[in-house]
Amino acid sequence: MEQLQGTVAIITGAASGIGRSTAISLARAGVSIIAADIDEAGAAKVAAKINSTDGAAFGVRCDVATVDAFEKLKDVVFDRFGRIDIVMNNVGVLTSGRPDELPVTEWERIFQVNLLSVIRSNAVFLPLLIAKGSGHIVNTSSFAGLLTYAFDRLPYAAAKAAIVQISEGLALYLRPQGIGVTCLCPGPVKTNIMSTTRIFSSDLDVRGPGPQFDLIEPDSVGDMVVDAIRTNKFMLFTHPQVRDLLIERATDFDAFLQKQIDAPHIIIKRSS
Ligand SMILES: NC(=O)c1ccc[n+]([C@@H]2O[C@H](COP(=O)([O-])OP(=O)(O)OC[C@H]3O[C@@H](n4cnc5c(N)ncnc54)[C@H](O)[C@@H]3O)[C@@H](O)[C@H]2O)c1
Repeated sequence: MEQLQGTVAIITGAASGIGRSTAISLARAGVSIIAADIDEAGAAKVAAKINSTDGAAFGVRCDVATVDAFEKLKDVVFDRFGRIDIVMNNVGVLTSGRPDELPVTEWERIFQVNLLSVIRSNAVFLPLLIAKGSGHIVNTSSFAGLLTYAFDRLPYAAAKAAIVQISEGLALYLRPQGIGVTCLCPGPVKTNIMSTTRIFSSDLDVRGPGPQFDLIEPDSVGDMVVDAIRTNKFMLFTHPQVRDLLIERATDFDAFLQKQIDAPHIIIKRSS
């Protein structure tokens, strides 16, 4: 979508972090925004910030884990702005625990919030975008969906890997129909995600993808997403050097796995 001025976007998880920064960057490019978040006050605050700077936005409470969340969002977007062009499925929550200490109910929660939300969003918005033959979908995955550097967040990583697959398959299907798909794969970004992480193994160190990946500010990610929509870029890495790790892993899976076991990159030390 080279021309963004006058288009309309829904962004989930827009009250904080990457969703918030993308809402602000898209608004700056002339896109009207529905900022959807379970944090109603936060969503309203982002909308107010955009509205105070010549943009147009509306904040709405939305729990993406509920069955009718996206039908309701569809009603809101048509009521407020009369059209939909860009859908960013961005909500993600983290969990942390050894594979044998994470309850099945936590798998269910993470899949509901992180994965089934994307599927429900597609069920509502794909037919609309296909019918008009234009638009763009952005799905937020993670480095955790591309490669394995930790064992404490299996439901999160599995959901994010599924999002990569869904996004790529959708791109195959939708690009010939005039609709773009971007799979955003962030590395470490300074947001509030750790503050809402549920912890099931209190003595477990938290591993990161590697010391070469700086913790970046979310503001720059919003601009990257705008650029990806404009240029119809499919795979969007916040830290392009992740390609080196992907090549290393694909070249020798066993050696890559052994390296992670022998020299994990600890970002939070919890063991004594
Ligand atoms: N921050 C990182 O380092 C990083 C790395 C890789 C991927 N990601 C992904 O980026 C996306 C955005 O995360 P972030 O880092 O900006 O986190 P964040 O916690 O700052 O923002 C997430 C937002 O989602 C909202 N939210 C949570 N549950 C919700 C629900 N059920 N319904 C609606 N809204 C809900 C929260 O209220 C919050 O405003 C997530 O998908 C996350 O997995 C983040």
